[in-house]
Parts: sequence; structure tokens; C-alpha cells
Amino acid sequence: MTELAGKTIVLGVCGGIAAYKAAELTRLFVKAGATVHVVMTQNGARFVTPTTFQALSGHPVWVDAWDDRRANSMSHIDLTRSADALLIAPATANTLAKLAQGLADDLLSTLALARDCPLLVAPAMNRQMWSNAATQRNVAQLRADGVEIIGPDAGEQACGEVGDGRMSEPAAIFEALAAFLQPKPLAGRRVLMTAGPTYEPLDPVRGITNTSSGKMGYALARALARAGAEVALVSGPVALATPLGVARIDVQTAAQMHQAVMQRVGRVDIFIGVAAVADYRPLEVSADKIKKSGEAPVIRLERNPDILADVASLPAAPFCVGFAAESRDLEHYARGKLESKRLGLVVGNLVQDGMGGDTNQVVLFDAAGAHPLPRADKHAVAAGIVTHLVALLAAR
Ligand code: CTP
Repeated sequence: MTELAGKTIVLGVCGGIAAYKAAELTRLFVKAGATVHVVMTQNGARFVTPTTFQALSGHPVWVDAWDDRRANSMSHIDLTRSADALLIAPATANTLAKLAQGLADDLLSTLALARDCPLLVAPAMNRQMWSNAATQRNVAQLRADGVEIIGPDAGEQACGEVGDGRMSEPAAIFEALAAFLQPKPLAGRRVLMTAGPTYEPLDPVRGITNTSSGKMGYALARALARAGAEVALVSGPVALATPLGVARIDVQTAAQMHQAVMQRVGRVDIFIGVAAVADYRPLEVSADKIKKSGEAPVIRLERNPDILADVASLPAAPFCVGFAAESRDLEHYARGKLESKRLGLVVGNLVQDGMGGDTNQVVLFDAAGAHPLPRADKHAVAAGIVTHLVALLAAR
């Protein structure tokens, strides 16, 4: 993974037990290709030694404002000059208070005051310290100053108490920073999407569904949110975590998905139908479990609404993107959908190339022609779709 290649991060580590998680965070950043410079407070260096961070980052660790390893003693300014972000994780209640006030009585707080890059903080403290009016006031002030606050989570704390204040997990902090550093070409755009399969019940325990995992739709929702879009995701039943910054609406049936979309579509600029919506549902749904009998039952079906076609035919339709998963003749069917449903873009793939797995190979069809993307993991494919979408929107 080279998601952060070319990025420089200054990681501030304060004195809290969560400092040990900052070691894992350093490793994640380095693995993703970032250059990491670690700055610790005196108390931070009591929890985990600077040597640990030096070994993980491959760079000297800074603790003392009077460190003479830099000839001009200007490490408080130099360190953030080439940085893309200053991230403080863990950030203690004391450091948050200093940041909110603009105090600069050690190297880390001086760096924060002298920085010319964005500041992100991942608070970590006892639940009483977090809920204290002073801390909440400081956090509100930092938000107002444009500081990005990551977490904290709720859960069991090192002191044995349970509540808000645990530092977010390293993977979540990594995701928040990586998303923050992405370009935001879709800022201000509102996107509504569907993803996953639908489930059409036959009786209380059985139903008709399909093998869609939702992975492609969720990867696309994440890529859109990272590109700055406001994303609402109407999702069929899947076993996936909601991407950071995405508003998720859970549904089961195609009719529920249709209703959830129609309620929201008036407010959006872009609609993307990724869901594998059941075209038919059982005509009768038994209230009781169907019992086996001598004769094999016959299931009669009726048509479900076509969500994408209904959205695309609205008088003030948003820009519509459809997906075409076919088992053969991809170009023929994908072009048919582009024209019959009057879409701006169709993402086509052969089902044997993508459904259920972690990688996908797609071809983008628009008015200008066919644009194949290389086979890649679904996150890279999603990023490719977003890049193409941004270009199409800019050309309109
Ligand atoms: N779609 C939808 N509502 C439906 C069916 C499909 O919104 N009831 C959307 C899908 O999310 C996808 C696209 O339409 O974006 C798929 O097009 P469609 O032609 O309906 O696909 P299939 O159901 O696979 O069609 P066909 O049976 O014609 O192959």
C-alpha cells in the first residue's frame, strides 16, 4: 500500500497510556509510504521511549525545545514546514487546553502554534476529564479554529472505568488522516447511492436474494466521501462496516430501497445505483413458515420497481450512474442500459470478473465511448470511477 507516498506527517505523542498505540500508528503510516517525524512531550516519553518511535519511523525523535541536533535550534518551526499534517495522537486534556489557548511551553505546543499545515488531534483521556466542561469548551474552540478532532471512542479505559475518552484505534486514525489528505474535487456535491443485494421474503425465515457482497458499492461510497462528496448510502443486507463520513440507511427489500431513494433524491446532484436489486419479488408472502407438503410449491413473482430508471426519468433528474453486471456481451448490454435508462455513465463488468471477490475489472461506458480500467482491488477501481466521474461532471 502506498496510499500516503510522498506525504510527510509530524506525529505528536502526549503522555497517556494510549501512547503505545501511537507506535502502531507510526508503523501504519510508514507502511503506507509516508515520512513520519515524531515529537513527544516529556510525559509522552515516560510512557514509550523515543527509541521505539525512532526505530519505527527511521528518523530522530524530538522531545526538547532546546535540542541542539539542529544547528539553528529552529526545530519548532522547521518540522512542520515540509509537513502535510500535524497529528497529535494521543492528545491529552492538558495539551488540548494548551492548543485551544495558543500556549507554547514545550516543543509540541510550540510546533502546533508555529505550524503552517493542518492540525488533527485524537484525544485520549479518562471519561470524567473528557466530559468536563473545560475540556468540552476547549474541543469546541479547537473545532471552531479548524482543527480536525478524531474520536474519541467509548469503551473500557485503562483506569478500569467505562465511557467516552478512549483514543480511536490506530486503523481508524489512519483512515481519518488518509481521507483528510485526499484532494476534494467533489466538495459540495451530494451523492445518493444504493449498494448490496436486496432480500425479498417468502415467509418469516426464507427469501430470495443474490450473491452481491456490497463491497464494490461500499468501496465507491468511501472513495466519494474521501473526494469530498456528502454521501448517503441506501444499503441492502451486507456484512460491511459503514465507510467514514457516509450516512447509511439500511433496507431489505427492493420496495423499501425504492422508497428510501425517492424520499431523498430531490436533494442530490448525483445518483449511483450499485445495488443488485431483485427484479421480481414473491407475489405472496406467507405470514407463517411454509410447511413442506406432498406437492412442490409454486412461487409466483411480480415485478419490482426499477429504482435507477425511475430516478433517471424524474423531471429534474440528478446525474445518474448505473452498474451492469453481465455474464456475456458486456458492451452490448451496458450500452443498452446507458441509452434505455438515459444514464450519464454505466460501469460494466462481467460477473465472473468481480461479484463477491475483492478485485474487479470494469469498463466505463459513457457518451464518448468505452474506457476500460485495469483489474485492481475494489478500492482502486472505486478511485478510478470517481476520477472519471469528476471529469464527466467538469465537462458538463
Ligand atoms: N437497478 C435498479 N432497480 C432495479 C433493477 C436494477 O436500480 N429494480 C439498477 C442497478 O442498481 C444497476 C442497474 O440498474 O445500476 C442494472 O440494470 P438492469 O438492467 O436492471 O440490470 P439487471 O437487473 O441485471 O437487468 P437485466 O435483467 O436486463 O440484465
